[in-house]
Parts: sequence; C-alpha cells; structure tokens
Amino acid sequence: MDSQNWKHSLLYITFLLAILHLTQNHFCHKLFFANQTVRVKKNPDLPLRFRSDGTFKILQVADMHYGTGTSVTRCRDVLASEFEFCSDLNTTRFLKRIILAENPDFLAFTGDNIFGSSSPDAAESLFRAFGPVMESGLPWAAVLGNHDQESTMDREELMSLISLMDYSVSQINPSDDDLINPSKGGVMTKIDGFGNYNLRVYGAPGSMLANSTVLNLFFLDSGDRSVYQGIRTYGWIKESQLNWLRRVSHEFQGQKRDPLHPTDAISTMKPPALAFFHIPIPEIPHLFYKEIIGQFQEAVACSRVNSGVLQAFVSMGDVKAVFIGHDHTNDFCGNLDGIWFCYGGGFGYHGYGKAGWPRRARIILAELQKGKKSWMDVQRIMTWKRLDDEKMSKIDEQILWQSR
Ligand SMILES: *[C@@H]1O[C@H](CO)[C@@H](O)[C@H](O)[C@H]1NC(C)=O
Ligand SMILES: *[C@@H]1O[C@H](CO)[C@@H](O)[C@H](O)[C@H]1NC(C)=O
Ligand SMILES: *[C@@H]1O[C@H](CO)[C@@H](O)[C@H](O)[C@H]1NC(C)=O
Repeated sequence: MDSQNWKHSLLYITFLLAILHLTQNHFCHKLFFANQTVRVKKNPDLPLRFRSDGTFKILQVADMHYGTGTSVTRCRDVLASEFEFCSDLNTTRFLKRIILAENPDFLAFTGDNIFGSSSPDAAESLFRAFGPVMESGLPWAAVLGNHDQESTMDREELMSLISLMDYSVSQINPSDDDLINPSKGGVMTKIDGFGNYNLRVYGAPGSMLANSTVLNLFFLDSGDRSVYQGIRTYGWIKESQLNWLRRVSHEFQGQKRDPLHPTDAISTMKPPALAFFHIPIPEIPHLFYKEIIGQFQEAVACSRVNSGVLQAFVSMGDVKAVFIGHDHTNDFCGNLDGIWFCYGGGFGYHGYGKAGWPRRARIILAELQKGKKSWMDVQRIMTWKRLDDEKMSKIDEQILWQSR
C-alpha cells in the first residue's frame, strides 16, 4: 500500500469509528438506514455558482464554541436574567434562525467550531454543532481554530470528519497534484496544517461565465498554539501554505474565460478572492488607530510571528477581503493596504462574549455585473452583520470591493 492509500484507509476507519460511536449513543439516526448500513455522504450541487439573479451570499459563522449540544453546556457572558435558560441549544437556535432569515448560498465556519475542553467526544460535538447546516442542505465549509482539537480528535482527524459530513465542501488539504511545485522542478512540497483549500464559485447559470470561476474562496489553517523563541504564542500561516496559495492564485492570471470569443470584453484579470481563517494576522492591532466599521473591544490575540500573510495577499492582488474570528467581542472591518479584514463577531453562547452585547454573524454578498446579454464578472462585494436579538437586527452594512 502506498502512503496515500494508507492515509485514506485511516481516514475511512476514523469516520467509521465516529459513526459507530454515534450509533451507540443513539444519536444522529438520520445517518443510518434501519438496518444500520452506513449511508453515503450527501453532496450539494456542485460547482458552487452564482444564482440566476446574479448574487452569491455567504454566511460567516465564527467561534460557535460548541460543547455537548445539550442544556448542560451553559452560556457564558449573558445577562443574569438570561443565564438560567441558556445553553448550546441557543447557538443551534441562532444558526437555524439566521439560515432562515438570510437564506445564504454557502456557509463558512471560521474555527473554534467546537470547544474541546467542553466536548467529551469531538465527533459527537461536531455532528451536533453542524447539525443545522447539514439539515439545511446548503453547501458549507469549515476551518479549525485553536480550540477544536482540545478534545478526542487531532486536527487531521477533525478536518477528515468535517470533509465527510453531509453537504460539506471542506477539504483536508490540496490534492497531491496541487502540491507539485513547478518552480522546484516538480518536486512535491508538504503543506503545513489541515484545512487549506480553494473553492471556486462559477458565474450565473446560462451566462457567458457559467463555466468559469468568477470568485475564489481561499481557506487556510492558522494553527492553534506554538512556542516561538521559547515563548508560548498562537499559531500562524506558514510559508508552505502561502506558497501553495500564490500558485493557486497565479493559475487564474489571464485565464481565457471564453475560448470561443477570446476578444469579448471579458477581463482576463484574476477573479476576486475572499480568504477565511481563524487567527488574526499581526497587523490587525494597527487598525486600532484607523477608521473601522464595527467595534474594537478587546486586544487582538494574534501570533508573535509575522509570516508575511499581508504582503503575500497584496502581491497576489486577488484577495479583496479576509474573514477571521478568534476575538469574540471584536466585530469590525478595517482596511490594511487595500484589503479588508473583517471579524465575524462571536456566534456561540458557550464562548466568551459580553453580556448584553448580542451574539452575531457576518454576511458577505457578492453581486455580478450585468452585461449586454447576460451576467458577467463580480461587480461588488458587500458585508453586514446580523445580531441574535429579537428582530435579528442588521448592522454595519458596507461595500468591501467594487470593480472599476
Ligand atoms: C438496508 O436498508 C436499505 C434501505 O432501507 C436498503 O436499501 C438496503 O438494501 C439494506 N441493506 C441490507 C444489507 O439489508
Ligand atoms: C435561549 O433559548 C431559549 C429558548 O430555547 C430562550 O427562551 C432564551 O431567551 C434564549 N436565551 C438567549 C440569551 O438568547
Ligand atoms: C457550459 O457548459 C455546459 C455543459 O458542458 C454547456 O452546455 C454550456 O454551453 C457551457 N456554457 C458556456 C458559456 O460555455
């Protein structure tokens, strides 16, 4: 067996064990037929694509911090009057509610999906945390934060299971083919972390760009904790990840969108891209002194190591906005060197927050440009937040990017 097969078998066994474990707990019956046959993963319609009204809407869920998914997992930082009837189930309720209210095309979970130390069983917590999105049938993707692996599964196992869950389009890492580095004579390079992948969003159905990528979604593993020069600090995005990202981005340079009409007024520029990861980059604290939209309420818990993520994004040119989590009571967007960096704002009730400051989520809306006959490239990218209050208040709407 070569190492790849071995790896796949291991993943498969992990998944079976997770399933078996869940059966024993009489949980998630929907995963099985009555005769206990393991059911095949349900997949969404792929590729991801814009709607026929020219829009694509993403819901970012940051820091669900899910525990057991029962009323045992209590809420943190809610008003004393709210405490008694507040648990993980409120996080579930919020997720169901916001999916109904916003009707997104895709969900991006930016880490600390589960809170390891409150999850005696990681697989069970994951199934419960992602339950509403699996039931919704909407495509979704997740990356890991620094707390996901603190329970019974390591980061590779977590990403494997997440990639095998219903309607998930998450990937463990790029395929081997995508890790072959042409600039190093075709030598295969190893990538750091688990949960580095690219998802392409195609143009509107029936449009000239129906078979072309018009928006890229980059997912990166920002790690958990690390020791750097003898000091404990948070993880960071490594050079191997940035190298892979640069190559992916470069492939879109000058892509011929329509081979039949190469001279049509379709730009041969790289399509705009959005990036998603958990831990803020070390430049985020600079935004304290700049104009921001939203609230800066806590110190940025970033890594001491600056691995040049901002410079990489600037030189790539396609990343227009970056969506992060980690600091639950920061929910702002701020601009660094022409790129927007936006926090999701804490979503989960078992994660720390601020009493009286509602849990929240971010929405990202990309809109296409109307050509003479059909929808074309992305024209504009907007964002706003929704609060888990009575009216699901919509706040801080802003434009992140507009094509010239
Ligand atoms: C298990 O149940 C499913 C659906 O109920 C059926 O299609 C399948 O043939 C059954 N398998 C076995 C081994 O009985
Ligand atoms: C949590 O959910 C319950 C209903 O299940 C609701 O009564 C309560 O107000 C919610 N608490 C918060 C803080 O949203
Ligand atoms: C996209 O692909 C489909 C299926 O192969 C084809 O029918 C359609 O004409 C293509 N559209 C364009 C604009 O190339």
